[in-house]
Amino acid sequence: MNKKIGVFALGICLSGASMAQAPQLRADNIDEIIAAMTLEEKAQLLTGCGNAGFPGSGAAMGHQTKLVAGAAGVTAGIPRLGIPQTVVADGPAGVHIDAYRKGTNQTFFATGFPIGTCLASTWNLDLVEKVGKAIGNETLEYGCDAILGPGMNLHRNPLCGRNFEYYSEDPIVTGLIGAAMVKGIQSQGVGVSAKHFAVNSQESDRTRVDERVSQRALRELYLKGFEIMVRKSAPWTLMSSYNRINGVYSQGNYDLLTKVLRQDWGFKGIVMTDWIGERADLPISDVVKAGNDLLMPGFPTQVNHIIEGVKSGKIDIKDVDRNVRNMLEYIVKTPRFKGYKFSNTPNLKAHAAITRQSSTEGMVLLKNGKLNGQHILPMKQMSKVALFGVNSYDFMSGGLGSGCVNVPYVVDMVQGLKNAGISTTAQLTDIYEKYVAYAKSKLKADKNPEMWFLDQGQPKLDEIEISRRCVEHEVSEAQAAIITIGRQAGEGLDRKIEGEFNLSAQEKDMISNVSAVFHNQGKPVIVVINSGSVMETASWRDLVDAILVAWQPGEEGGNSVVDVLTGKANPSGRLTMTWPIAAVDHPSTANFPQQPDYYNLTEKLYANNLAGVNYTNHDEDIYVGYRYFDAFDKPVAYPFGYGLSYTTFSMSNFAVKQIKDKVQVKVAVKNTGKTSGKQVAQIYVQAPKGNYEKPVKELKSFAKTQELAPGQSQILTMTIDRRDLTSFDEANSQWKGDAGEYVFMVGDNAAHIVGTAKLRLVEYTEKVSEAMKPQHTLNLLRRNK
Ligand code: BGC
Repeated sequence: MNKKIGVFALGICLSGASMAQAPQLRADNIDEIIAAMTLEEKAQLLTGCGNAGFPGSGAAMGHQTKLVAGAAGVTAGIPRLGIPQTVVADGPAGVHIDAYRKGTNQTFFATGFPIGTCLASTWNLDLVEKVGKAIGNETLEYGCDAILGPGMNLHRNPLCGRNFEYYSEDPIVTGLIGAAMVKGIQSQGVGVSAKHFAVNSQESDRTRVDERVSQRALRELYLKGFEIMVRKSAPWTLMSSYNRINGVYSQGNYDLLTKVLRQDWGFKGIVMTDWIGERADLPISDVVKAGNDLLMPGFPTQVNHIIEGVKSGKIDIKDVDRNVRNMLEYIVKTPRFKGYKFSNTPNLKAHAAITRQSSTEGMVLLKNGKLNGQHILPMKQMSKVALFGVNSYDFMSGGLGSGCVNVPYVVDMVQGLKNAGISTTAQLTDIYEKYVAYAKSKLKADKNPEMWFLDQGQPKLDEIEISRRCVEHEVSEAQAAIITIGRQAGEGLDRKIEGEFNLSAQEKDMISNVSAVFHNQGKPVIVVINSGSVMETASWRDLVDAILVAWQPGEEGGNSVVDVLTGKANPSGRLTMTWPIAAVDHPSTANFPQQPDYYNLTEKLYANNLAGVNYTNHDEDIYVGYRYFDAFDKPVAYPFGYGLSYTTFSMSNFAVKQIKDKVQVKVAVKNTGKTSGKQVAQIYVQAPKGNYEKPVKELKSFAKTQELAPGQSQILTMTIDRRDLTSFDEANSQWKGDAGEYVFMVGDNAAHIVGTAKLRLVEYTEKVSEAMKPQHTLNLLRRNK
């Protein structure tokens, strides 16, 4: 396994110095505390308290039982100086702690909010901030000081196993949604740890892989979302990623953690490592020097090595003191330091309403065909449906691994329909419900303890075959068929193309059989996609009448799906990533690892210096997502930004003007249809030609309307920093916006522009640190090669 487990007895009283004379930590005496600390205490403060309680406690992978059972980690306390231990718990879709504790009947369930991808698909910054507030409140009331989220890596490729935790293939969406989430969480007086900084774009060999990438793609894509979020929301902490970038581990990367993060962006918080022990090929002196303040989960050897490093002169005490200061500045902000009396009873009911609202708004309607001249959706006067697909009955609220949440319940499709007064056909429901119960018991019995991440969350159960005869029986009772197609993924494993990105043979048969039989009787077939990330749709979408992407929408999933299907809510989610026709259409698929049985092969493979195992070349460079499909005229199944509504909108009076170092954009959006709904205005910009190749257009801002009644209009106003209208000029280590005409476009997706406006801007440059140069030659994709 990649993740190291260790046994660590807490050593919190480290000094022989007398309690009586020692100063006690306050927000305004940090200098005094640092002066009073022994080297041992400093080293301990820079190292987490390990897997406290492990083994035998039921805690796994750094999850500790002492302060908050199931939280991911604890920082060291030094009682002599009044420095408390603080607790961090996993996120990002809610507070990941144990639901049950020994010795009490009380439960500690946390609300299952929608996964990152679903939240981003709302394109609604106020709503994301509201979700952040609810998550922050549960973090606080469950006695945690910070939550390990949001996940802010880019969807470089649809096969990445953790895309569900991340927001988008686009850095502006990632940055703005991330900032809204951080603001919401931190408004409750707890911190975040935005992760995984940076370029953690694959799970295969994630703890070692060298992500080789140009400085330009780094700055414009992989770092940009973090940059926007850091500048806008001042996160308390960031988590350095496991991987290397251009040969240097993130946690030991001075360029990344000091030059870029602190010097260029002005970050003031702490950086903690992702959960790993000491590395044989990375001296701890590099980690301390780089500006990685905290080693998590923390092992005693690391404390000793910091002490030895200082004594032998390999570690500069000034670097230690700088990191200690950052730690203390973090600690004085925490609820534990402030003595907050947490309740352990957050208002789960109120938060369930917020999760339902946000998951409903994050769902994306991909197809809404017609039958007898009428759109299939919303389903009016529907009283009984036949529900196919195992995940209709075992609806997946979130993904696997540290990002899962121990939720109090998950509303499945049967329940969601029932709550809206719609029943499901008895025979089919009986078959599936019995199968789900059987498959879950079997899964438990067959569990492989090595595959710990499959145990964290709700694994996908295998589909079952439903005979044609059975479908023929169902059609006589039901007014429509709903087929749920489920996809699961998570920490530690990337996805395969066959059977994961693509449909399995069994799923294909199910879709074609059900469609043939129902269509024969003039009855519609609706597909609900219950997946954390993108899948293939082009080969089967013509067979069905409607497709709704429900993502993994949290505990209220079934209710939210039915809200959309019945028209209680008008869908307003938009894709934050391109849905390609085939997985190989993304240029990054060519160098994305696709190792079956990855864990069994990895050590053997690792010796061979293989692409996708030891390193991944980002040859596609800046052509990630729609930037590629646009520039290379490659057809897609559904473009970036896409999503249907039950109403229609117009956009007019599109205007742009420069105000100092910003550009203001305005557009009037009108509901021109018969149903109230929300629209997202997406602003793309084409920059003037300069000395280097640029994407055809890039998203630079977006805004969502309020719920507009038929005929109602709203003027949306956005501002874009001049800095965000530049490209990265590697030769001079600067952001450079060429002088000339900028074409601003407004549209409702990347392939549907409805208005343009031009603006002449003078040249803009902004010097930044020279950092993170590739050590290897990359064969960069260019249009004009
Ligand atoms: C994951 C992090 C997580 C940490 C603590 C790591 O393996 O990559 O996202 O926060 O574990 O559980």
